[in-house]
This record gives sequence, structure tokens and C-alpha cells, in this order.
Amino acid sequence: MTTIATVGVLGGGLMGSGIAQVAALNGFTTIVREVDEPSAQRARSSIEKSLGKAIEKGKLTEEARAATMSRLTFTTVVADLAFADIVVEAIIEDLELKNEIWKELNALCPAHTIFASNTSSLTIAAMAAVSGRGDRMVGLHFFNPVPVMKLVEVVKTVTTSEETFSRAFDFAKRLKKEPIAAKDNSGFVVNLLLVPYLLDAINALEHGVASVEDIDKGMMLGTGYPMGPFTLLDFVGLDTTYKIAEIMFDEYREKRYAPPPLLKRMVLAGYYGKKSKRGFYDYSVEPPVVSALGL
Ligand code: CAA
Ligand code: NAD
Repeated sequence: MTTIATVGVLGGGLMGSGIAQVAALNGFTTIVREVDEPSAQRARSSIEKSLGKAIEKGKLTEEARAATMSRLTFTTVVADLAFADIVVEAIIEDLELKNEIWKELNALCPAHTIFASNTSSLTIAAMAAVSGRGDRMVGLHFFNPVPVMKLVEVVKTVTTSEETFSRAFDFAKRLKKEPIAAKDNSGFVVNLLLVPYLLDAINALEHGVASVEDIDKGMMLGTGYPMGPFTLLDFVGLDTTYKIAEIMFDEYREKRYAPPPLLKRMVLAGYYGKKSKRGFYDYSVEPPVVSALGL
């Protein structure tokens, strides 16, 4: 059994940059592939910023930061991931795009390389089938923000071998995460329960139950959640949430997963949440204020 030493990360957005940071911090040689130079640079800066904050808080030494950065490479060339022992995919939630890149990588990577997807809502089976290595395909679902959230869902589909599953589970532990085993159903454990809650909050807002601020306050002070649902939606990304809801609705054909019309309108308007500086809140001012949504 080849020991995992080199990690390839596909996509350096919110999740990919966090996964790469955690991998490099825990001693893995890590290569991040983005679509173009500016995106690769953004991935690098977001990791630098996150490590910088950790230093300010006295949680990381200068030496550890330098060692982490020295283990990280950023590239736009898929073939640079050919030497990875595991590739963790964190590109946008689009099955066709994900499968295109798995097919390309299958021709480049050695036989022992594990393919792991960080998908929120697609089944691993839908990728395993076309990846050309169904026995070495697994789900590794991290949570946002990756450097802080302890959980990783490790997902075995019908074709995943026991060896692949146990190597992926062990890899999550080596990242100092708490892995749990989850079945290959759309949404795994956490999103199966979390996504309907987030969509219900949008429906409640559209039906005039209460304001954005009061629904957020209600869930934080009434249930002890660290963020209210609208702050969390903005944090996850409304574009990503919309895609997740579409995929889960398509899978289960249940109303509880249907993307609310307001969510669709906001995505069409380019309101993607914190990453585009506007979602349910407007982040162009400090502190953020509630966005005018024409309700
Ligand atoms: N990167 C690195 N560290 C970060 C960070 C980031 N992006 N954001 C916050 N932190 C760290 C802070 O440095 C701080 O560390 P220390 O305690 O060591 O000082 C710690 O996290 C707490 O941060 P803050 O005090 O600034 O803020 P907070 O107390 O409000 O916590 C939070 C921030 C951890 C994000 C908290 O609000 C939280 O847990 N929110 C809910 C997050 C959540 O539900 N995530 C899951 C989303 S769903 C998902 O990921 C699945 C999917 O498929 C969509
Ligand atoms: P994001 O939009 O922040 O980042 C996606 C990145 O992928 C972008 O930087 C984009 O340039 C890049 N990309 C697109 N096509 C690519 C390709 N062919 N090769 C390399 N890079 C490519 O999205 P995100 O929030 O990081 O989500 C990524 C994945 O993680 C999705 O599958 C999502 O469902 C899942 N996820 C998201 C969250 C969350 O809270 N946002 C949590 C867990 C899992």
C-alpha cells in the first residue's frame, strides 16, 4: 500500500484553498490546480492571509508558516498533478466539469492514485462510473471553513474498494480531522439535513415570516447556532447552494430540496454571498448591512 505523501487539489476556491492549506500544514507536498493564473494567485493569497491570521493570534510560528508555504505549489497545468498519491477535487458543483477532469487525470496518474471528490450533493457513483478507476474513487467531504471545521465525511460508493476507503479515512485523520463514514446518497449526512433548513429560511423570508436579521438572530439565540441561516448561506455561497439544491431536488424529487425562487433571482443578479460582496447581506460596508432584495 503506497503511503500518501503528495496531494493534488483541483480548484483553489473557498474549499480547495482550505484543503490545500490543511494538507500542506500537516506535512504533505501539495499541488493546487486552478483554471488560470489570476485564480491560482487568488488561491495562494487566501492561504497566505489565513496563515497570517493564525500567526497574529499566536497559533502558528513563522517557521511553520514558511514550511507550509514551501510545501505548496500552484499551477494551471493538469499534468502537474500526475505525481499525486491522492487528488482531492474541489471545483464548482458541476458533474460534467468534474467528470471531464477525472477522465483527463485517469490517463495521467499512476494506478495507486486515489480520486477523492469534495462534492456537496453529487453522488460519488456518478463520478466513479466515468473516472476509469471506480475502485479508487471515494468521497472526502470537508466543511467550510476547512482550517476550522473538524468534520470530514468519507464516502464509499458501490465500486469503492475497502483499501481505498481505509486509505482515505486514514488520510483525513492525518489532516487532524474527525472522519465519519457516510453512505453514497446525495447530501451524505450533513447536507441531507442542513440544506432543507437553509432553503426553509429563504422560503420563510419570502413568505414574510420575519426579517433576515431576525431569522438569523432567532436561530443563533434560540438554538445556539454559531451563525444564522442567512449568514451561513452567504458564507457557503448562493451560487453553490443553488447548484446543490438543484442536484438534490433532481435526485429526490422532494419539495424540501427545491431551490426557492428568491435564491434563483439572487444568483441571476450575481449575488453570490460573501465572495461577491453581496448576498442576503451587503459586505461592501463594515459592518455588513442587510441587502435590499425587492421583497
Ligand atoms: N480560515 C481559518 N480560520 C478561520 C476562518 C477561516 N476562514 N474563519 C474563522 N477562523 C478561525 C478564527 O481564526 C478563530 O480561531 P481561534 O478560535 O483559534 O482564535 C476561530 O476560527 C473562530 O473565529 P472567530 O472568532 O473569528 O469567529 P466565530 O467565533 O464567529 O467563528 C466560524 C467562525 C468558525 C466560521 C463559526 O461562525 C461557525 O462555526 N460557523 C458555522 C460554519 C458552518 O456551519 N460551516 C458548515 C457550512 S456547510 C458545508 O461546509 C458543507 C457544504 O457542502 C455546503
Ligand atoms: P468556489 O466557487 O469558491 O471555487 C471553485 C473553484 O474551482 C474556482 O476557483 C474555479 O476557478 C475552480 N475551477 C473551476 N473549474 C476548474 C477546473 N476544471 N480545474 C481546476 N479548478 C477549477 O467553490 P467552493 O465553495 O470552493 O466549492 C467547491 C466544491 O466544494 C463544490 O463541489 C462544492 O459543492 C463543495 N463544497 C462547498 C462548500 C462550501 O461551503 N462552499 C462546502 C463543502 C463542499
